[in-house]
Amino acid sequence: MVKPLIAGNWKMHMTVRESVDFARQLRSEFPEPVDRNIVIAPPFTALYPVAEVLRGSGIYLSAQNLHWDEEGAYTGEISAEMLVDAGCEYVIIGHSERRTFFNERDSEINRKIKTALKFNLRPIFCVGETLAERESEQTFAIIKRQIEEGLINLSSDGIEQIVVAYEPVWAIGTGKTATPGQAEEVHRFIRNTMAEINRKDTSSKTVILYGGSVNHNNIGDLMNQPDIDGVLVGGASLNVETFIKIVRF
Ligand code: 13P
Repeated sequence: MVKPLIAGNWKMHMTVRESVDFARQLRSEFPEPVDRNIVIAPPFTALYPVAEVLRGSGIYLSAQNLHWDEEGAYTGEISAEMLVDAGCEYVIIGHSERRTFFNERDSEINRKIKTALKFNLRPIFCVGETLAERESEQTFAIIKRQIEEGLINLSSDGIEQIVVAYEPVWAIGTGKTATPGQAEEVHRFIRNTMAEINRKDTSSKTVILYGGSVNHNNIGDLMNQPDIDGVLVGGASLNVETFIKIVRF
């Protein structure tokens, strides 16, 4: 079993002050690295001040998005270099909210992943089916397409850096978590697909997170599944006491 990875995606929430207060409390709870990897993904405005608080703690900082190009005339966008400069080690790429509201396509996601890797940012690459896709039994086909297109032309070293987050769209922010069995089935499929595209056996383990209405009550059962290596938490990661309970599952 790899070290569990517990990540909080704050989405478009939290001011700088709130973020710094959260980071201070989290750091005082986990002043040194523990038996799990902890990652928080504040909004862009709070990245640098939070990095200052977390420096030397072993708690990792993630961004929620980046631009695929290294620099240029892209008003309102953020580059990989800027994220590294602000203290990030991870970046969430291809979240379903970006796919849905900002029309992100697999090809753009692929470019973003390549740029992130070039700058040594570890991508947290999100995949997942909608309710309609699940009900029409397309879950595996959708996940396979998202992985194959999202990771096209990546080196084996690159593929090994990818953290995959399985986030069924119907479970995000709905309070409707996938059952541990439903999640495990897709995680196993993702693990096999990753091994296939990397031409390796499944023992070279990709870290695969589950996301979608995770909280401190349901994390234990999810983490008991053999192919669930961690979680990507939205709503329940915004309160520091709750997030600490999740980390300590
Ligand atoms: P919720 O935990 O609020 O369902 O959000 C999940 C998510 O989208 C994390 O990236």
